Amino acid sequence: MQHLMSPLDLSVEELDKLLTLANDIENNPRKYAHACEGKKLATCFYEPSTRTRLSFEAAMLNLGGSILGFSSADSSSAAKGESVSDTIRVISCYADICAMRHPKEGAPLVASEKSAIPVINAGDGGHQHPTQTLTDLLTIRSLKGRLDNLKIGLCGDLKFGRTVHSLIHALIRYPDIQFTLISPEELRVPSYIREDVLRKNDVPFREVERLEDAMADLDILYMTRVQKERFFNEDDYVRMKDFYILNKKKMSLAKEDMIVMHPLPRVNEISVEVDDDPRAAYFRQAQYGVYVRMALILTLLEVDVC
Ligand code: NCD
Repeated sequence: MQHLMSPLDLSVEELDKLLTLANDIENNPRKYAHACEGKKLATCFYEPSTRTRLSFEAAMLNLGGSILGFSSADSSSAAKGESVSDTIRVISCYADICAMRHPKEGAPLVASEKSAIPVINAGDGGHQHPTQTLTDLLTIRSLKGRLDNLKIGLCGDLKFGRTVHSLIHALIRYPDIQFTLISPEELRVPSYIREDVLRKNDVPFREVERLEDAMADLDILYMTRVQKERFFNEDDYVRMKDFYILNKKKMSLAKEDMIVMHPLPRVNEISVEVDDDPRAAYFRQAQYGVYVRMALILTLLEVDVC
């Protein structure tokens, strides 16, 4: 039985197969409409979510399966003090696969160790968000035609942004990837990412504070919101929250074929005037999230569709 805790749980070959399956699902949705009939997905979300939870649920429904779950810790027995290990043992009796989001880093991993069903990490604190990374990789591969030879700008809250951490881990496995890390000093990537992931693997990167200094060079600009819920004090958040606002003027500095991505939700970091720019890919990215989660559910449940 396979769980998904980090994008590195899948080899580059397995990932390639999964993304190809997601593209086939996109092109032939009817072929997969009954693939998971009789199977149940549990979504156990101890932290707020719109896209991740609903796209998991849409994915399972599109496959002909059923869904159950909870969308906040308050509405689960966590409010009574139950541990994730006990919860997953019980959920294992009710469902065939579980997607879990938790504010504590490592909580889905702890759950997976006691689980009788595959567990998917749907985001654990500021740590990892592997299914957003699968979504991002599918978006990049579909829109740019490749996962290698790319100049990628990551902008915003690189300290607490788990989607950025997972994406860096995943992309360094492809040749000729260069990162421009765009953040204020206080929100730079954690040193374990800079030293143990980027420097250790000789991945070229530079760190800049101004978005304008990075734009011209990029194939992909990946924007993120400042992660309000992970700040220790409100004043720091208020000072940081509008540090970057991508607008038409800044877009005019970018290449004609650059794409703008964002895991969403957006707060102020992308002005709505950018939404009509053909390079804005963030809503298409959300759609790719459904296909890739369908492919992941099929893969972890070992369902073959001929
Ligand atoms: C992201 C997350 O939860 O980390 N959202 C998502 O899953 N699409 C990004 C964020 O909340 O900023």
